[in-house]
Amino acid sequence: MSHTETAPTPATARRSSALSGDIRIPGDKSISHRSFMFGGLASGETRITGLLEGEDVINTGRAMQAMGASIRKDGDTWIIQGTGNGCLLAPEAPLDFGNAGTGCRLTMGLVGVYDFPSTFIGDASLSRRPMGRVLDPLRLMGVQVTSEPGDRLPVTLRGPAIPTPISYRVPMPSAQVKSAVLLAGLNTPGVTTVIEPVMTRDHTEKMLAGFGADLTVETDAAGVRTIRLEGRGRLTGQVIDVPGDPSSTAFPLVAALLVPGSDVTIRNVLMNPTRTGLILTLREMGADIEILDPRLAGGEDVADLRVRASELTGVTVPAERAPSMIDEYPVLAVAACFARGETVMTGLDELRVKESDRLAAVARGLELNGADCTEGPDWLSVRGRPDGRGLGNPSPDARVVTWLDHRIAMSFLVMGLASEHPVTVDDAAIIATSFPEFMQLMAGLGADIQQS
Ligand code: S3P
Repeated sequence: MSHTETAPTPATARRSSALSGDIRIPGDKSISHRSFMFGGLASGETRITGLLEGEDVINTGRAMQAMGASIRKDGDTWIIQGTGNGCLLAPEAPLDFGNAGTGCRLTMGLVGVYDFPSTFIGDASLSRRPMGRVLDPLRLMGVQVTSEPGDRLPVTLRGPAIPTPISYRVPMPSAQVKSAVLLAGLNTPGVTTVIEPVMTRDHTEKMLAGFGADLTVETDAAGVRTIRLEGRGRLTGQVIDVPGDPSSTAFPLVAALLVPGSDVTIRNVLMNPTRTGLILTLREMGADIEILDPRLAGGEDVADLRVRASELTGVTVPAERAPSMIDEYPVLAVAACFARGETVMTGLDELRVKESDRLAAVARGLELNGADCTEGPDWLSVRGRPDGRGLGNPSPDARVVTWLDHRIAMSFLVMGLASEHPVTVDDAAIIATSFPEFMQLMAGLGADIQQS
């Protein structure tokens, strides 16, 4: 089900009347990937409900099957029989991760240290993305790497007879790099240590501990985290209910803020503090987002959100907030187009290496649709127009180039719902990688989005 097999489908969003409804967002992508991986690795049975059934996660499930896990679905529940830690089988064919950086990079850590070859491939977007950030620590652990120039896919890994435990300071704020090293540590004798100067999403640490890994986290006075994992321990199957994805929530949430008169409730949203930077920022901008029934579910903070259309004012988003909203900048930039004054977003270097160069993709899309923005090397500023006048583009040929990036597609479709003129994106099919229900769910709220 790799996206490379589907033809691009343009779509157009038009100014809509008030959005309303009560919706449930599909499962969190980060937790869904990890549920398949850790369930596939653990001894015994793992049962998962609420799993995101997007293409990215399904590809991770296929990779785990190719390495010996048994995965089936019974009603709403995914049931996995894992191989047992240290017992993955050599995949017979290249593992195809489609569009998914998380699936690919985490699995490189998981299987790369095994003493057999594993090959990783992906779509055109994933094949452009840098893998050196994961391959470098794996090399230190003794893994042999064959790759395309610049450490790009296809990549083949072969672990040593006995991998070397390392102490690794993650050079950029990246949960994928942190996780890849920890997962490599699972099949490495001794203690693997990851030092994380800036905290990123902590799903790997939390979930591995839940599966029974011997893992500790220490945070010093400066906020630097040291994560230690004792390798070659036993992992045991778990029962997991995946909460709703805050990164997918961002699209109907911003749409509800921007379309006058809207009132939308979004249920069961993951509120892990490493993921809530967008909500914090939008509230600083004046957004009416009510957090209802905050609760703990499966060790995670979860809440319902009631969102009402709001007049927004531009803010400066501090660079240190970036890890907690790294996937949300494209849609924040869209919100900023409708805010009074200027919004300045800094510390965005990592946006250059996402599914697309998101900084450039957002800036070009905004320019095409009449927004006033400036792109810097690692920052973006947007000067908004609260009434949306002049925004959008009356020409159906003016299509935002999405570069196989689901979040670029969804962000610009949200923009069109409140702009004076329509907004057209060149491909909405890519949205299926992370949020297959997007079109249906937005239509249910009253959004006017048509595929052509
Ligand atoms: C993810 C980490 C982030 C994020 C991605 C999911 C994860 O990537 O952008 O969508 O699940 O670990 P980086 O580690 O590259 O920041």
